[in-house]
Amino acid sequence: ENVVYHNSVTSTQTVAQQLANEGVGEGTVVVADEQTGGKGRLGRVWDSEKGAGVWMSLILKPQIDFRKAPQLTLLTAVAVTRAIESVSGLPLSIKWPNDLLVNGKKLCGILTEMQADPDRVQSVIIGIGLNVNHGGFPDDLSEIATSMNIEAGKPFNRAEVIAAILNEFSWLYRTYLSQGFSLIKPLWEAHAVSIGKKIVARSTAGTTEGYALGIDDEGVLLLQDNQGETHRIYSADIEF
Ligand code: BTN
Repeated sequence: ENVVYHNSVTSTQTVAQQLANEGVGEGTVVVADEQTGGKGRLGRVWDSEKGAGVWMSLILKPQIDFRKAPQLTLLTAVAVTRAIESVSGLPLSIKWPNDLLVNGKKLCGILTEMQADPDRVQSVIIGIGLNVNHGGFPDDLSEIATSMNIEAGKPFNRAEVIAAILNEFSWLYRTYLSQGFSLIKPLWEAHAVSIGKKIVARSTAGTTEGYALGIDDEGVLLLQDNQGETHRIYSADIEF
């Protein structure tokens, strides 16, 4: 991989998108010490304190149908989970689609943004925001957010964490391109906490309550409502 490092950027997503548009190849990684306008899912702000976390974006140009792009988010969640477990031993769980939790608090978020023609993907930018060395969070966040340092009681070398993530990502991505999602899905399911539970899914389309049956081969969440009807959920916030 080719790693592009920045001290401070608005968002590594924006930098990566520009590079992808300029023709930079697949596998380029944009890393920053600080983001002044970090982006979260659903238009939220992502707090990206200087030097405290891993703020990075991967540029991918897979030859896949755009409907399969959510699979790459799930694959990334598996890669980051395995990397953090190997570096720290912390037990992680994945909350669909892509929040990584320790002890029920959010440690890492993943944001996938795609540019596509009507049927083919041009580029997929996968943003990873991982809280590494934060000593604590402000009151409004401390109930819901955590860091590797808070959970393990010691700081971590961010370069080592990044190397571990890229290492896991690279073999999972190669496996995915050659063999499809079927080998990745069970790895994701093994860490998933949202499956087999009563959940509430909130999105701009409305709120659906029911039982999370699992994910399908595209990575879509299958939710059975109280009338027994199954809904396909592409994007939502999940509450238990
Ligand atoms: C979420 O809402 O859970 C997703 C958060 C994604 C944050 C990362 S940090 C690196 C990359 N650049 C951004 O602006 N966002 C992503």
